[in-house]
Amino acid sequence: MKRTLMSAAIVASTLATSAQVASAAESLSVLHWWTSGGESKAIRVLKDDMDKQGYEWKDFAVAGGAGAAAMTALKTQVMSGNAPSAAQIKGPLIQDWADQGVLVDIDKSATDWKAQLPAQINKTMMSKGHYVAAPFSVHRINWLWINKAALDKVGGKPPTTWPEFFALADKFRAAGITPVARGGQPWQDMTIWETVVLSQGADFYRKAMIDLDQKTLTSPQMLQVFQTARKIQGYFDKGSTGRDWNLATAMVINGSGGMQFMGDWAKGEFANANKKADVDYICAAAPGTSNAFTYTVDSFVFFQQNGKKEATLGQLALAKTIMSPAFQEQFSLYKGSIPVRQDVSMDKFDACAKKSYADEQTTIKSNTFFPSFAFGDVQSSATEGAITDVVTGFMNSNEDPQEAMRKVAAAAKVK
Ligand code: BGC
Repeated sequence: MKRTLMSAAIVASTLATSAQVASAAESLSVLHWWTSGGESKAIRVLKDDMDKQGYEWKDFAVAGGAGAAAMTALKTQVMSGNAPSAAQIKGPLIQDWADQGVLVDIDKSATDWKAQLPAQINKTMMSKGHYVAAPFSVHRINWLWINKAALDKVGGKPPTTWPEFFALADKFRAAGITPVARGGQPWQDMTIWETVVLSQGADFYRKAMIDLDQKTLTSPQMLQVFQTARKIQGYFDKGSTGRDWNLATAMVINGSGGMQFMGDWAKGEFANANKKADVDYICAAAPGTSNAFTYTVDSFVFFQQNGKKEATLGQLALAKTIMSPAFQEQFSLYKGSIPVRQDVSMDKFDACAKKSYADEQTTIKSNTFFPSFAFGDVQSSATEGAITDVVTGFMNSNEDPQEAMRKVAAAAKVK
């Protein structure tokens, strides 16, 4: 009996060995939220690259712009002992996950990263002196996207101030075009609101969204932010509640919508629809924000596999590929972003990306290159969630601006 079990075990292990040899490829399970047309095209570049290197890609795409649903799915996977090889996470959440002791470091793949990354982004990729996240690209948030034919039709020009913006919005409305194509999800309301905060000046943004300074959060300028946001709300269409961001972008692509406030993944949608910058659409810094740059940086973190504290070969290869110049270029060309690596040529990029790159360089120097609050690049998810709840409540109602301002100041204390 004993011998039979033993030989069965030997047979089984021989089978397992040959099976392993047959499928030597390490499989990489990857959790992310890139599911729109442009986003899928961009992440496919990484999948194909890893395929070529002999790794099997197991895709866990969790739909939902800005990743709220993906973060919930990730928690479930980790708690049930099925942590993915890599997951899309950004900002302070990277350090939170590292503090849980479930990540591996990828130092071996990060040999030149310090020299190649803007200092503040480099810092975000690390925990306790080790690299735990690999960055993809820099997305600019404070953009306004405008349909060029619609703009020409109403004889308008890209607005640089709020009065110009509202004058243009009125023209669009008179021409039967939805002035502001808005996607009605909390993070999209935050995108608009955060951009209005930035339009009050770089110092104001820093004090309000980075320092969470109570005096700034309850100032007359903050009241103006809410009043401007309320005015913008008047230019949404009735169908905007719950709408996905890419459907709002589609409105600007097909001309039923005039303008959209959105990060430059919107450009990935324009590109995917074969639309050209300056010909079919215009990218302009949102009114009053041309001297500043709010950014979000996507990154992958790497989870311990099979209880091992070291990164697997596949995880190291994945991290290295993400930061390779060739991948950085192709990914951003599809995604609408700019490479986060500083040594990638911008030659192949369009006018919007070139502008984004030039503004990135200038604002890094002038200290007005800011992590986006709305996308979790700066505060804890608790603070971000609390403020987002108030802002989206305001954008979906006719709540008094003063009252909403008071609530935001209180929410800023949530840690
Ligand atoms: C990510 C982008 C993504 C967008 C919409 C943001 O949080 O940084 O890469 O395209 O969400 O899904």
